[in-house]
Amino acid sequence: MNRVIVLYVALSFVPLGAAAQIQDARIPRLAQDGEGTQLLVDGSPFIILGAQSENTSASNLEDVEVVYRDLDAVHANSATIPISWSLLEPEPGKFDFHLVDGIIEGARRHHLKLILLWFGTSKNGLMGFTPDWIKTDRTTYFRVHDARGDEQYAISPLSTAALKADQRAFSALMSHIREFDQRDHTVIMMQIENEDCLYPEDRDYSAAANRTFAGQPPSELMSYLVKHREGLTPALQSAWKLTGYRTTGNWTDIFGDMAPEVFSAWTISSYIDGVAEAGKAQYAIPYYINVPLINTGQVRAGDWPSGTANSQVFDIWKATAKHIDIIAPDIYRIDFPEQAAFYNRPDNVLFVAEVGIAPYYAPYVFTTLAGMNGIGYTPFGIDHGYEYDSVLNAGQTALEENFRVLRPLLPIIARNRYRGTLFPIVLDMYRHESLAIPLGDSLTAVVHFDEKFVADTEAHRGGGIIIKLAADRFIIAGEGFHVNFAELKGLPRDAECLSVEEGTFDGENWITKRVITGDRGNVSLRLHQPSILQVHLDRTLN
Ligand code: DGJ
Repeated sequence: MNRVIVLYVALSFVPLGAAAQIQDARIPRLAQDGEGTQLLVDGSPFIILGAQSENTSASNLEDVEVVYRDLDAVHANSATIPISWSLLEPEPGKFDFHLVDGIIEGARRHHLKLILLWFGTSKNGLMGFTPDWIKTDRTTYFRVHDARGDEQYAISPLSTAALKADQRAFSALMSHIREFDQRDHTVIMMQIENEDCLYPEDRDYSAAANRTFAGQPPSELMSYLVKHREGLTPALQSAWKLTGYRTTGNWTDIFGDMAPEVFSAWTISSYIDGVAEAGKAQYAIPYYINVPLINTGQVRAGDWPSGTANSQVFDIWKATAKHIDIIAPDIYRIDFPEQAAFYNRPDNVLFVAEVGIAPYYAPYVFTTLAGMNGIGYTPFGIDHGYEYDSVLNAGQTALEENFRVLRPLLPIIARNRYRGTLFPIVLDMYRHESLAIPLGDSLTAVVHFDEKFVADTEAHRGGGIIIKLAADRFIIAGEGFHVNFAELKGLPRDAECLSVEEGTFDGENWITKRVITGDRGNVSLRLHQPSILQVHLDRTLN
């Protein structure tokens, strides 16, 4: 029965994106199922529960093994690992794939899927991961200049020679992965560069950039903006409005004070799209970029990372980066739900590419997967080490507890995405001890937390998920709260429980571990003991 459902779902998806390759249906890809976007791996919906290594953990395979062990310890199903251009192509045209192969083989031994990060031309706007032959040839691979004319430690996005070199390296990488991984599909997504942006400049002031900035923006960009004018993000919308929505003239004529940032977004997204296009021609699995967000207290582009796909210039990226499938936020802000919500759009499925490892952030995995139909959640720095930082230590523990209950639920969550049947539970700093969650069918879950929110980075924070299987059947998973099911029709009352079982899933099959006889309508999930409950309610009075 389940096999039939999976087959039907797989066949009803239509591939997304411009890649014109004829693909094996098992190759990882994003697909539209009518209601939303699914990540398909081997033809079936896949949800990423993972974490990212430190930036330089993949310079030898022993360190990668530590990352994999740490991931196993938190019940992750995926690993996020950087590939450094300088280690891949130490001499022009001479590629060394031994680390790539070892990373993939290691992931297979640990039954992990892989998301590889292409640390090429730009890592956080800097050129640290480029090969020495790029770094030392400042003429061919010219640098970003600041407004005073000083060279920066960053390759100019206007350097066509750098773009060609990056394209050649990334094509070689993707061609190699296609060959090496064609049977297993261990590698499921690629990140192009890392948090590509400019700072502290608002734009590149190299001679080539100045010349381009003095000219007209490309007509394709302007046509896109005209076509999508009503739906543009507020920052771009209001800057453009001030110039009377001009479509001709130079960048400043059209975008006014925001011109340097819009220009940066266009130059960087064009560069990244060029790299992505070259890779897709070899192996068209999903590609994404990760975005450093604007922090409070940052007041202008360059102060915040300029030109990245943030809330200022997201639309410029949508117009330009046609070979990028997902724009993914890196969220290190306490207003996680608001920041994540910006990237959860009909034209962009939510993937949390980075988030801090701290108990504060841990329950936002439920917000991501249940509240926003996200396809994955991968906190940064799993191999920081448990020993030396108590916040990270507490964060790993919280991650482990949440992933422990989520991992067996992933097939059910994947099946319930976009149906309004997934409900996150997070002890919120604003809502304090309780939550009311409308479940439909005249029923509301009233959630009471066992602890109050404590504004302390090490403090445990309760969280979980409710999955509605039917009007009278629910999965509740997590820890540190209890739930009443309030009937909304008839006399005020709670629905009574017919049964509460603690257990787990093997695929789609429920396995009962314990039968819990509790109070009539009250379901408790114990503190610091993550569990999965299946609740059958008596709705006969309804
Ligand atoms: C964001 C970057 O994308 C990561 O590679 C890493 O440097 C973290 N910041 C460190 O917090």
